[in-house]
Amino acid sequence: MQRFVTEEMDTTDAYKLLSGLVVPRPIGWIGTRSNGGVNNLAPFSFFNAVAASPPTVIFAPTGQPAARKDTLANVRETEMFSVNIVTHSLGPAMNASSGTYPADVDEFEVAGLAVREAELIDAPMVADAPANFECRLMQIVDIGGAPMGSSVVFGEIVAFHVDETLLDGTRVDQVALDPIGRHAGNMYSRANQLYEMPRPD
Ligand SMILES: Cc1cc2nc3c(=O)[nH]c(=O)nc-3n(C[C@H](O)[C@H](O)[C@H](O)COP(=O)(O)O)c2cc1C
Repeated sequence: MQRFVTEEMDTTDAYKLLSGLVVPRPIGWIGTRSNGGVNNLAPFSFFNAVAASPPTVIFAPTGQPAARKDTLANVRETEMFSVNIVTHSLGPAMNASSGTYPADVDEFEVAGLAVREAELIDAPMVADAPANFECRLMQIVDIGGAPMGSSVVFGEIVAFHVDETLLDGTRVDQVALDPIGRHAGNMYSRANQLYEMPRPD
């Protein structure tokens, strides 16, 4: 085993180990709207569900505090955002939305995506995604500093939207959902080799 002591590593190598080993990561495709009314959409794979009551997600813009990420600026301003689930067929649009565009550019337009409005909050959602969450900001926890600090955004899901063809009550058809996961660099996986493993009593 090769051992790496974090204190002796540069941040890029630590990032490479982390993003190559914590895989596959789910992707939170985050929709926000600036106070000036510009829609924004970007993917984050430092993303997960962390509580069920209240239902809570986190995502983390990195490169903080230096990198301007419109998503983080909008969430700080408006305290709301949507999460959109990325399927295999939406992969190219998700990728297109990840480019570094100026704040006045609407990534829904760049990626050719239609908007569906959230109802309890003021944020755009990806109309073609099979599921969207309407989220209100709970808190932002800043971790570390330049060049690779993170601002971890905690959001409470106040409404779920789910394509009814995927649902049996509130059970979601895992095969039909066809989500993708993020691996190191530009690698992705498709969750289409599912198997069951019953838990011990
Ligand atoms: C699959 C994928 C996952 C990403 N995950 C993150 C992430 O967790 N944190 C981050 O800061 N940037 C991440 N990025 C890069 C952002 O999407 C990119 O910086 C984007 O331009 C930010 O947009 P914004 O300025 O509109 O917020 C990811 C990109 C891709 C393609």
